[in-house]
Amino acid sequence: MNAGRLITFEGMDGCGKSTQSRLLAESLESKGLDIVLTREPGGSPGAEEIRRLLVEGPPERWSAETEILLFTAARRDHMEKTIRPALDRGATVISDRFADSTRVYQGAARRELRALVDRFHDAVIGRDPDLTFIIDMDPSEALRRGLERDSGERRFEEMGQGFQDRVREGFRALARDNPERCHLIDGDRDTEAIAREISRIAGRNT
Ligand code: TYD
Repeated sequence: MNAGRLITFEGMDGCGKSTQSRLLAESLESKGLDIVLTREPGGSPGAEEIRRLLVEGPPERWSAETEILLFTAARRDHMEKTIRPALDRGATVISDRFADSTRVYQGAARRELRALVDRFHDAVIGRDPDLTFIIDMDPSEALRRGLERDSGERRFEEMGQGFQDRVREGFRALARDNPERCHLIDGDRDTEAIAREISRIAGRNT
């Protein structure tokens, strides 16, 4: 058994989860905890290379099946090189996205793919987070923020509003199905209010 704790942040593009991951990391670090802040796709040198294949290029670059394999491959490397060693030494790992993103995004592309995602997860990842924050917000506002950043990593944002709506619904359903680890957070508020709520919940679950 791992001694450390895995906390993940999920939600649609532009929902503010990267900011909230960082704020929670800072808040827990200030209490003296050993924190590893990481992200997906990526989080280890090999997985960051796979990330570029996934987030750049035209939306039709990969089939949904290939995409699931690439995300899972990146996650396996991230697990091996970053997450597991940190958990083994007792650290708290905070990951900006994890397996729920594959369940929701690739499942949103085609519903029947969800079973395939779960099979790969069970076969080569085999661990879910201890605590997950799902930041929920108005999809049109999130899309606007995502496009505003103009990072060059627009492949998923370019899938458009209908896709964002399905992603939102997917995350909400996931929160309903996993109430013991998932907390749905109202993201249509100011950053500090959201951070306070998250910090309170994380503190309660320490
Ligand atoms: P991310 O870097 O979190 O983008 P952002 O900061 O804009 O939210 O993720 C890049 C994209 O990859 C994002 O659109 C979500 C998508 N994604 C999946 O489709 N499946 C996955 O398993 C993961 C981890 C991300």
